[in-house]
Formats: sequence, structure tokens, C-alpha cells
Amino acid sequence: MANSKYEYVKSFEVEDEVMFPNLIIIRIHGRDFSRFSQVHKFEKPNDETALNLMNSCASAVLEEYPDIVFAYGYSDEYSFVFKKTSRFYQRRASKVLSLVASFFAAVYVTKWKEFFPHRKLEYAPSFASKAVSCASVEVLQAYLAWRQHDCHISNQYDTCFWMLVKSGKTLSETQEILKDTQKQQRNELLFQQFGINYKMLPVLFRQGSCLFKTKVEETVKHDENGNPVKRLRRRETLVHSENIAGRSFWNEHSSLHKDLGHFAKDIGKIEPDYVKSFQFESRLLPLTWVVVRIDGCHFHRFSEVHEFEKPNDEQALKLMNSCAVAVLEEFQDIAFAYGVSDEYSFVLKNKSELYKRQSSKIISAIVSFFTSTYVMRWGDFFPHKNLKYPPSFDGRAVCYPTSDILLDYLAWRQVDCHINNQYNTCFWMLVKSGKSKTQAQDYLKGTQTREKNELLIQQFGIEYNSLPVIFRLGSSVFRLKTQEGVAEENGEVSGKQVEAEVVVDYSNIIDQCFWQQHPHILSCS
Ligand code: GTP
Ligand code: MG
Repeated sequence: MANSKYEYVKSFEVEDEVMFPNLIIIRIHGRDFSRFSQVHKFEKPNDETALNLMNSCASAVLEEYPDIVFAYGYSDEYSFVFKKTSRFYQRRASKVLSLVASFFAAVYVTKWKEFFPHRKLEYAPSFASKAVSCASVEVLQAYLAWRQHDCHISNQYDTCFWMLVKSGKTLSETQEILKDTQKQQRNELLFQQFGINYKMLPVLFRQGSCLFKTKVEETVKHDENGNPVKRLRRRETLVHSENIAGRSFWNEHSSLHKDLGHFAKDIGKIEPDYVKSFQFESRLLPLTWVVVRIDGCHFHRFSEVHEFEKPNDEQALKLMNSCAVAVLEEFQDIAFAYGVSDEYSFVLKNKSELYKRQSSKIISAIVSFFTSTYVMRWGDFFPHKNLKYPPSFDGRAVCYPTSDILLDYLAWRQVDCHINNQYNTCFWMLVKSGKSKTQAQDYLKGTQTREKNELLIQQFGIEYNSLPVIFRLGSSVFRLKTQEGVAEENGEVSGKQVEAEVVVDYSNIIDQCFWQQHPHILSCS
């Protein structure tokens, strides 16, 4: 089964590299966190513990990705700035933004218990992310000023809002009172009605939080005489500052101007054209089938550390499938998903208007939701194995103009599953029988499907086609629409579509029969 017939589908992938000398910023924010904060009873307008959890996750991001040298966050958002020389993931925007959202979501779930030991995490949190490119350090300065200005304005508004609500006003009365008010008026309202001096509120709420790396001296070991051996280490430092876009703050920290550049002067008004560029969102071609493919990051290592069975770990695959089912339940516009190994492809209906087809939002929402679900459900599939570190997935979106090309894409993935699985089965059988990894590789070099099948049967008595179908064909996830007989008033029985259940199936999806059996999956309605 050669894959070359289908490989042309790769040509639909588009480049999205952030070119030099642009600086890369990835901004993430909680997806529907107004609901998330309500369900989890966060204090209003600011929940200090929730903010500390956000800061702790951001710190883990800085530690994980050394190219990120500065971060700024408030409420449920965080911006991560990459050093100007970064070549992280070849500067591919989708990969970088999805990876950051994915890792952040995984850490958020992992650390939840530490920050909220007595509160259950009710459902998987997820984050939308986007990449912003800044043509110069001056534009970065404007970006930071813009975010901190937003922090100030929204915090001041929310403080007034919740004080009024707590004092007995209804939500609509409160909105009416605050409509068209200016900063000064809101400060006066707080002071006169509630005796609150806005400036005295905690800096964490008013100014947001900055994270960057500073060099600190750390004792790494003791020498034979018991004297401490010290080394300079880069550590994440959390600070609050009134004006993160100010020269004095920025230029005071040598690591920041070394990695990102100097702020030549202080800025007053933020250039509206810059803000327009920060808000720009690119959209996926209308009426095309969109495939969001996610792939485990360094799962070679992840599967070693977690002692996955080789070549296939059924529990690991079932955990992936369970997350894919959750994704289909969460996003109604996803018609179909196909998964193999550490990857999953999600197919969005061609008519989908999810997030107005904004590509970063779609990719990041799916990838981060998948990741946080993976962490939350880990224990259900591996009750006797601890998750040693948070996994992460990268994502990309590709548009296919017709359903025929989409089916070729899916066929490409299923052929790949077959080729890899057959190779890996032979490889690990040879290794388990005593060959070294290099010997096994040499042995299999240039062998065709038939020869590999023969090797399995002759040397190991394994009939390839009798191996579990989940390993050989991968997993398909879709809604199963069934017709239910309903008795009508006139005594006739008519067919009625019942609530569609999301199912996992291990079919041959290269075969047209599958699509003929489930015509609703790709129907354009
Ligand atoms: P990047 O995706 O580039 O970050 O690298 P990766 O290490 O994730 O490799 P890739 O995605 O190309 O391949 C997935 C890897 O995950 C495989 O090569 C295996 O090492 C590992 N893997 C996936 N599923 C299983 C499994 O069921 N059992 C075992 N033992 N390993 C698995
Ligand atoms: Mg991978």
C-alpha cells in the first residue's frame, strides 16, 4: 500500500512563518472563562488564588521554552514574548501558538489541586491563543502599553461593577450606572460610595504580573570540603510594575534589552494602527473542509517515560480516543476525527462558521481542550501510573476544497498508520527476539508489505491481519445518527433522527463503503 498516491494532499498546507526581524508574541486567554470562573466560584472581580495559578502556569511556560524571555498577564490572559533571535519551531505561527496554549492548559489542570485543594475541577479548561508579530521593539512597547492599559481599564470597571452588585443593584442597573463613565468618575464612585481608594488596591489586580528571567546565584552542590559550589542560573522572576512599557522599567533589566532591544523613549498615546495589527485575525477559506491535525510533542520521550507498551499501548490509544470523543461533544461543527499514535485529525464541516473561521482560535481551542482533557482523564486509563510531567500537542489547520480531496487526506493518514504499524510490529518483534535496534533496522530496510507479513508469520507465527484492528486501522470518531420509529397521531410510524451519539470505530476509511454507510458525516447540510 504505497502512500504516494495520496501524498499530494500535503501541498494544501500553507506556510505561516513569522519572518525575521519580527518579534513573536503569543497571547493566550481562557476560553469562556466567565462560565469557568462562575462554575468554580472564583471571587469577583479578582480571585487572588486563580491569578496565582495563572502566574504559576506562565512561569512553567517560561521554564519549558527558554526562547520565551518575557511574559505579561492579568485576569485570564497571558502574553509570551520570544527573544528576537528565536527559531523555535521554525517560527511557524500555528505550531508555536498551539503548543503554548496546549502546555499552558496541561499545567493549569496539573496545578489546580495545589492552588484549590478543596475545590474539584469540574470540567476541562481551555485557552484560545494567537500569534502577534511586532516589526520592531517600538511596536512591542506599544503592545505592552496596550495590554497594561486594558488591564487597568477592565479592572477598574469590574471593581465598580461588582461593588455596585454587592451593594444590592441588579446587573442591568449596574450596567446603566457605569455606561459611558470615564476613569475619573469611576474612581470617584469607588471612593464616595464605598470608601475605596483605587490606588490602594493590590498591585496584582491593578497592574497585572510580569515574568522574566534574571540571573541568580544558586548552590548546585558542595565540594569535598563542604563548601558550596555556586553557579549563575536563569530563574523566572515575578514582578509588578506600574508601567511595563516605560523606559525606566525596561532598560533597568539587562536581560530584556539584550534579548529584545532598548526602549528609546517613553510613549504617550498608543498608535491606533498598531492596535489594529495586534487585533488582526486571519481566517480560513470559506466553504472548504478544515482539518485541524494535532500531534503529541516529543511523544517518543513521553511514551518511554510512561512505559507505554511497544509498539502500541492500547490504553494510551484509548485515552487519545476518549479525548477525541470529548472534543466532538464540545465542538458540534466537527464532523469526523481520525487518530493514530500520538496524532488526531479533526474535520470541521465545510460550512462551519466556528469562531468566524479564525484559524488561531480554532486550532488553539481544540488543541488545548484536547490536552487538558488528556491530563484530567489520565488516571481513568492509567490508574496505577502517575503522570510524570504535563504532555503537550501542537496543531495546524489545513483547508481542503472538496470532499474528495478530504477523503484522500484521510486515506493518506490511514495508509501511514498501516505502514508505520506494520514496520513497528516487525521492528519490536525482532528487538524482543534478541536483535539490536540497528540490526532490526538493517533487516527491515527496503522490505515491502508482503515481505514484512511473511517475516511476521514465519519467524513469529503472527498473522498480521489478526492483530487488533485499533492498531492496524487507527480510530475514527463521529456521530452515529440513528433512525427511531415514532408512532404518529394518524397511526403511521415515521422515522425521526434521535440525538446523535459520538462513537469510536475502527473501520477502513479508504473504502468508499464506510462513507456510503454513514452519508450524514460529510453531508453539506
Ligand atoms: P514530535 O511530534 O516531532 O515532537 O516528535 P515525537 O517524539 O512525538 O514523534 P512522532 O510524533 O513522529 O511519533 C510519535 C512517537 O510517539 C512514536 O515514534 C513513538 O515513539 C511514540 N508513541 C506513540 N504511540 C505509542 C504507543 O502506543 N506505544 C509506544 N511505546 N510509543 C508510542
Ligand atoms: Mg509527535
